[in-house]
Amino acid sequence: MQITFAASECTPFAKTGGLADVVGALPRELVKLGHNVTVFLPIYARVRRHIEGEPRYAIQSLTIPFRSYNRFVGVVDAGLRDGVQYYFIDCPELFDRKELYGPRGADYTDNAERFGLFCRAVIEASKRLGVPHVFHVHDWQAALIPVYLRTTYLADPDLRGAASVLTIHNAAYQGAFPPKTTEELLLPWEVFTMDKLEQYDHFNFLKGGVVFSDLLTTVSKKYAEEIQTPAFGEQLDGILLKRAADLHGILNGVDYALWNPATDGNLAAHYTPEDLEGKRACRADLLHAFGLENVPEASPVIGIVSRFAKQKGFDILAEIAEEIAERDVAVVALGTHDPYYENLFRGWAFRHPANIAVQIRYDEALAHKIEAGSDMFLMPSHYEPCGLNQIYSLKYGTVPIVRATGGLDDTIEEWDAKKGTGTGFKFEGFDSKDLLAEIDRAIEAFRDKKSWTELMRNGMTRDHSWSGPAKEYVRVYEEAARRKVEEPLRNTAIVSSC
Ligand code: ADP
Ligand code: GLC
Repeated sequence: MQITFAASECTPFAKTGGLADVVGALPRELVKLGHNVTVFLPIYARVRRHIEGEPRYAIQSLTIPFRSYNRFVGVVDAGLRDGVQYYFIDCPELFDRKELYGPRGADYTDNAERFGLFCRAVIEASKRLGVPHVFHVHDWQAALIPVYLRTTYLADPDLRGAASVLTIHNAAYQGAFPPKTTEELLLPWEVFTMDKLEQYDHFNFLKGGVVFSDLLTTVSKKYAEEIQTPAFGEQLDGILLKRAADLHGILNGVDYALWNPATDGNLAAHYTPEDLEGKRACRADLLHAFGLENVPEASPVIGIVSRFAKQKGFDILAEIAEEIAERDVAVVALGTHDPYYENLFRGWAFRHPANIAVQIRYDEALAHKIEAGSDMFLMPSHYEPCGLNQIYSLKYGTVPIVRATGGLDDTIEEWDAKKGTGTGFKFEGFDSKDLLAEIDRAIEAFRDKKSWTELMRNGMTRDHSWSGPAKEYVRVYEEAARRKVEEPLRNTAIVSSC
């Protein structure tokens, strides 16, 4: 099949979170299964650095119309990498900026225009460069592609066979803008109704994608269930419930070419489940990087790598921060995003320089060092669609302590010391007491070196490669494409109700 990915992030070009890891890895796995895959990404300032020499334009200029003016967009052919074709959308006035979405956790005011343009440019570019069987679009930033396909482009003979699949990586980020966005992006006002794009008097990109795409996926089975409830649906639960039969939970995989302690180029030493010796050197290297050389060997090191956002559950960590600091543990944290949580971590480290250390920035190499050098990895998330770091942790023999939500629940099995089964520590309620009790359980378990090693090996030998999930995606693509062929009237029904 021909599959076209449209996303706002992709490793190694532009990343703020796990979306980039998924869009970087899944296409390559699909190519291994014999499919043709194209990935579209905007050219932010940091993407431009990846273009070697003069950009090679596949399309010099596409006209993207807005209500009172046109914009002109180039499409750069970024070539084939591991069999995946990359095209970059070039519109410097909208994308040539330092950040992807806005400064310090905020949003650029023209994000509707930026990603509205991106969606239209992907469709227009595909008409010239090759229309896929399936557009696989990710998160709100690409969610207008299914909307345009079923409205503005409905009668376009070139696009008639193209199905769309939307993957929701995080239902909380929806792309909500003032109602006038509808006409600014040249969509018919008929889409601005409660059963389509309108959400509490806002134009909602993600809701549009949910309503108009042929099939939907999200990144774990548990999160697929959760988002159909008011507690997790971020007010899209009603519309998601309506599409329950079309919504599939497919767990993210791991790119073991990048995340493997046996080969990881960022580490001080390498190790495997059979020979764990190198992990000691990784721990020493990590403690050195955080200025915590004096942490005794008997004290476990708890690692955190995270977007510092409310979702990640640090409010309950803050409530027990002093108790943790008094335990025989060290904490090393790497993160950035929301200034509130950045300050919370800064203050914690400032008060306890002997065993709590934080670095507020984005640092790919240090993230790998934390995975390898820590003994435990903490993710107390309030909600977590999938979560990748706990899966990386498994591979690195770094035992996850997680809250039982979304993908954290699906990937981590509670450790049972008597039976020797399980891979980590998991607590249910979003409650600081439960979190502290779980951390204490982990500290206690760490004392028994023999059974701790068994626990580490349990995680390290789990297979979370992309090969299984990629096959599940192929089944979803096939189903979407089949529906497109078998149900041509479904489109007409949607537009006639517009
Ligand atoms: P989310 O996408 O919600 O942020 P995930 O666990 O799916 O959470 O993915 C986060 C990804 O971003 C991981 O690859 C993680 O290593 C990386 N990451 C997050 N914050 C940082 C940071 N400050 N420095 C380096 N990598 C980071
Ligand atoms: C989102 C989610 C995270 C998930 C990632 C990749 O950013 O917050 O849980 O792992 O997308 O799907």
